[in-house]
Amino acid sequence: MIQETIKALAASYFEEYRSIRHHLHANPELSFKEYQTSKFVQSQLNHLGISHTILGETGVIAILKGRPSDRIIALRADMDALPIHEENNVAYASKNDGVMHACGHDVHTTCLLGAARILNELKDQWDGTIKLIFQPGEEKNPGGASILIKEGVLNDPTPQRIYAQHVHPQLEVGRMNFAAGKVMASADEIYITVKGKGGHAAKPNLTSDTILTASQIVVALQQVISRNNNPLSPSVLSICTIQGGFTTNVIPSEVKMMGTFRAMNEKWRFEAHNRIRTIIESTAKANGAEVELEISIGYPSVINDADTTSVASSLASSLIGEALVGEAEISLGAEDFGFYTQEIPGCFFRLGTGNIKKGIVSGVHTPTFDIDEDAIKIGISMMAYLGARG
Ligand code: NI
Repeated sequence: MIQETIKALAASYFEEYRSIRHHLHANPELSFKEYQTSKFVQSQLNHLGISHTILGETGVIAILKGRPSDRIIALRADMDALPIHEENNVAYASKNDGVMHACGHDVHTTCLLGAARILNELKDQWDGTIKLIFQPGEEKNPGGASILIKEGVLNDPTPQRIYAQHVHPQLEVGRMNFAAGKVMASADEIYITVKGKGGHAAKPNLTSDTILTASQIVVALQQVISRNNNPLSPSVLSICTIQGGFTTNVIPSEVKMMGTFRAMNEKWRFEAHNRIRTIIESTAKANGAEVELEISIGYPSVINDADTTSVASSLASSLIGEALVGEAEISLGAEDFGFYTQEIPGCFFRLGTGNIKKGIVSGVHTPTFDIDEDAIKIGISMMAYLGARG
């Protein structure tokens, strides 16, 4: 049984991969600057005798060949860290001040390296080709996934399915969660500049008040979600900055705002962009002000393929037991894995890394994020099992 062999190997390599995770965690690099991380991954693959190529400057793509077959599977791990100052007091805490693996991408990379080793050792026990994608820049637009896809990561050969796991501190270690369909939202950035005739606060009739206009825009935009969006499909619009003016008695000539728009339906996403533009432009017009709007297109929603997800969750059930496999909640967070699921069937799932008893509860993107490292064993086994049978 390959499953038992995979589990046994993952257990025997555990300490080694825990050290690898410590090394990666202590040496985090920001998105698209994963130079040392990329070198480290390459050296690990060299050590295992696995051939690989570089894509998108720091991305590493390795190909494993099993028994002759047309089967082609891709396994993806992201490698970048975040601009956060780590507050954990652990031996493996970040040595790069202000940069931290606060989203667990060190864990994803570690698990894929471990899986690569196991799959390479067991290559007479699985069929076809496995493409291992060590991806840069998940945390930053335009997203490493979109760059790698443009550079051909899904060509020659094109995988039939792609899988990725993500650490999940709200899920206890030992568990995994899956959901078919929409699991993560698209995320687009909104930049608004309201321009008008500034002037004396005591003579508003001689101005076109940019502060009032901006305020009305903030309020009016709320109807995009509450009145225009289908309430059965989650979507959110948040204006998160508002900057304008400098004193009590001057109406400024410019106010700038920024925000985010998220959706789980690609058709609605682009309809909403038009709606946002109409509301902003007409509100400005009604106030005699002018407006500039830029909507910066971010990641698409992540849509898990039903068959691929059912394959992954049944493999997880047989690996860790059905009772520990659950239904993943959808999230309006964003993930550039959505670029892959637009191209080929994929499954993005959650790896439990929390441990309430041990106090490992901090969320991702916080300065105290960490994992229960027992998750590494499961993460390695699961990626290897998906490679072999997914
Ligand atoms: Ni992440």
